[in-house]
Amino acid sequence: FIPPVGDLYVVNDVIAPDGFPRSAVLVDGQFPAPLIKANKGDRVQMNVHDLLEDNSMQRALTIHWHGINQHKSNYADGVAFVTQCPLVPGGSFEYDFSLGNQTGTYWYHSHFSEQYCDGLRGPLVIYDPDDPFKDMYDVDDESTVLTISDWHHLPTPKLPEFPLSINSTLINGKGRYVNGPQTDLTVITVEKGKRYRMRLVSMSCDSNFIVWIDGHNMTVIEADGDLHQPVTVGAIQIFAGQRYSFILEANQPIGNYWIWSQTGTGAPFVYPGPLATPVNSAILRYIGASESEPTANVSTPTNLLNETQLHPLSNPAAPGEPYRGGADQNINLPIDFLRTSLLPPTGNFSVNNTIYESPSVPVLLQILNGVPAQKLLPPGSVIPLQPNKVIELSFPMTSNAVGAGPPHPVHLHGHSFSVVRSAGTGPNDYNYKDPVRRDVVSIGSTVNDNVTIRFETDNVGPWILHCHIDYHLAAGFAVVLAEDVPQVAEDLSPIPVDWEGLCPAYYEFNST
Ligand code: C2O
Repeated sequence: FIPPVGDLYVVNDVIAPDGFPRSAVLVDGQFPAPLIKANKGDRVQMNVHDLLEDNSMQRALTIHWHGINQHKSNYADGVAFVTQCPLVPGGSFEYDFSLGNQTGTYWYHSHFSEQYCDGLRGPLVIYDPDDPFKDMYDVDDESTVLTISDWHHLPTPKLPEFPLSINSTLINGKGRYVNGPQTDLTVITVEKGKRYRMRLVSMSCDSNFIVWIDGHNMTVIEADGDLHQPVTVGAIQIFAGQRYSFILEANQPIGNYWIWSQTGTGAPFVYPGPLATPVNSAILRYIGASESEPTANVSTPTNLLNETQLHPLSNPAAPGEPYRGGADQNINLPIDFLRTSLLPPTGNFSVNNTIYESPSVPVLLQILNGVPAQKLLPPGSVIPLQPNKVIELSFPMTSNAVGAGPPHPVHLHGHSFSVVRSAGTGPNDYNYKDPVRRDVVSIGSTVNDNVTIRFETDNVGPWILHCHIDYHLAAGFAVVLAEDVPQVAEDLSPIPVDWEGLCPAYYEFNST
């Protein structure tokens, strides 16, 4: 792991995480990108250097710190053409921001084009040396991080617009593909009798995953950085961008056990998914067990976590009045899909009837240049919000969107939110009392789904909200919430000097 202050060198190199060699986009030569370990309250100062040289993939880049609120540091949010222009080869940019009082499990990834699918993705954990709830989960070790990724053998610019399959799934950067070599798998070592807090990070580009460990339950205590009351389950469905912490008790006979991550498709909470898609795995090995693979066949996940079982530990209620319509502003964002051909399915998503297309001038730069809230580009995709309001957002699914690669995991930048209505629930199933709090939510797979979230506008700046299936973002599934536009110039100043130079450098690089 690395500390949150230092240099990150982004390079191209050939790697073979599943035995198949391909060129990839790597931080410090590694996939996944190295774990960044921080402490509560730390100031992050990461000087990122773009050393990319492979023209078969994007050579410009940004880095987004997924789940970090970036209070008064919107310019460090790392979203290409929303909060900055991308860095160019030979260039550097220092992401300088405070973690405030956030703790828990996060990750970082490129937010330019579909670049994170090519490798620029890694975990970020914020520890709390004085965690007030430590006694509650009383673990012997909390160093294990399990990252789940899907993996393609082709670089993203060569993939069809909506990939229908993935080549392999990786746990901590190792996996196997169908009919591929029997490469090494990740081994997680535990000692019999001990309790572990393990962190699960979905760095997926597309698929959601169902994760389970043979012979062991998982007691979930964290969702997307917020601690929740413990819920013991047998399996977790995790969507692109989400994170969980769970307690694992090493209470089984000394031996080797499979850790499964199966691609889950279709409706949330319906399993098992089709086994024709890659099922991949890692090994949970007790100290004293032989150094061999478990012999058990693939098992079936049982007792799957349902999001509505999760209730936050502190400040459990959703903000605002605890009933439908009790927010200061209710915004409906219907999701639609406009198909342009039949095979392979290609087309564009729209949010609130508008297909998102990146503006050429980042939204933050437009604001700093004095463009008024109502005139911000791209037209129809920027929603200005007033400060200190409770906002309720609903995502009704349309029949077209149901047919286009659901369930869609929607992520809001700059905030975590309360999910007052989850996917798979009915029109009377709103929970304002103690709803799960998180920053990525599945908005479901059926026309009956109308997932609804609430948050407070307490964070100045433009924040993107998008589907975390990276191909869907590229196909227009995004909108920008511009929070307290009149206050941006004052609250975010001084803007770092190197931030201002990014756009001229990018447009010069692009013209050569
Ligand atoms: Cu994990 Cu907009 O990103």
